[in-house]
Amino acid sequence: MSGARLVESPLIASSAVLEAIAREVGTPCYVYSAPMIRERFRALAGAFARTGYPHALHYAMKANSALAVVALLRGEGAMVDANSIGEIDVALRAGYAPRDVVFTGVGKARHELERAVALGLKAINAESAGELDRIDAIAQAAGVRARVALRVNPDVDAQSHPHISTGLKKNKFGVALDDAAEILRARRDRPGLAIVGIHVHVGSQVTTLEPFRKAAERVAALAAALHDGGLPLDHLDLGGGLGIPYENGTVPSFDEYAALLVEIARPTGLALIVEPGRSVVGQAGLLLARVVDVKPHAGAGRFVILDAGMTELMRPALYGAYHRIVPVHETTRPVVTCDVVGPVCESSDTFGRARELPEPAVDDLLAILDAGAYGAVMASAYNRRPLPPEVLVEEDGTWRVIRRRTTIDDLLALEQI
Ligand code: LLP
Repeated sequence: MSGARLVESPLIASSAVLEAIAREVGTPCYVYSAPMIRERFRALAGAFARTGYPHALHYAMKANSALAVVALLRGEGAMVDANSIGEIDVALRAGYAPRDVVFTGVGKARHELERAVALGLKAINAESAGELDRIDAIAQAAGVRARVALRVNPDVDAQSHPHISTGLKKNKFGVALDDAAEILRARRDRPGLAIVGIHVHVGSQVTTLEPFRKAAERVAALAAALHDGGLPLDHLDLGGGLGIPYENGTVPSFDEYAALLVEIARPTGLALIVEPGRSVVGQAGLLLARVVDVKPHAGAGRFVILDAGMTELMRPALYGAYHRIVPVHETTRPVVTCDVVGPVCESSDTFGRARELPEPAVDDLLAILDAGAYGAVMASAYNRRPLPPEVLVEEDGTWRVIRRRTTIDDLLALEQI
């Protein structure tokens, strides 16, 4: 199976491979395509390489931090954006060096800052003046200088779902653009700080270039003003990457995205950092589930109840997110209207309403597509359901379990009466 063919197919592995995985590993189960992840990362890296401009691609681990996925991307030359000490630990165990890591997060606990400072990361993206002061104090006590960037809030509408838009004034992230220069100037001589960059992130599932353009222009202007005022930086970190087409419509190409960011960064002369997550892994994963029941819908059509639910893939319940749902095996059954739902006792536990599917039957395998990003990482054990296993499929159709399903013993090992 060639990488190119995998991308064109709605399923990221053959029906036979998915059937074998379902039989041997059980369902629900996440399945990722290693060649598709590589292909997406290479396409992104190629787009930035073609600009000839200095840059670093820091994969946003929050999208999918499976150890094997993070290690695979390291093999491709990725660096990482981590959002907690837990993610930093995963990165270190996957072989990344502290200098490969930028550390973002709106509420970093003191122990997280202490560890981050001790490790000597590429940059801690500080979210407030107070956080810069805490980093300074921790670094001075340790006798080191911490590399920091300041996250600014550019007041730009990402035009994404409100829950994942982060760049508006009313959002909790960063410091106001107008305050940033003063905050940094007042701290330029702190012995514990090396001020190396400006960070901005306007939101996720961004499907037009305009929000990226506005945010980049605002931080580039800030960086230029800081430079003129005698505070030179090393880099501009322009945050998360492009969205993906979950339903209809298109998104800008990696080339358009890279060219735009570089065009804006170039006059500053500063190296560019981006932190893409979804666009690297989103389309390279699916959630494999089995039909456990079918029953009439009082409205129209039928309910198709899966063994996967909001516990495995929370995006539809949390954001009303759309994910395509397709049968794993081709069939000639008539197409019927279905509400595809999970087993959790909440009506929000619904993957899709009024979907047209070849008449599903109990024990059929269905695939919920584009689940490689913000899927397994957001799974929960609500209802004492096990966390789902994750499987990585290689180019030749061979596959391996990269995380096993948790057992009730795993869960209860943490508890006592
Ligand atoms: N950098 C920062 C600082 C971020 O907060 C994020 C995502 C990224 C990078 C990666 O953005 P991406 O390239 O994936 O768009 N759970 C939500 C998405 C939350 C995203 C949070 N931040 C979902 O399922 O859609």
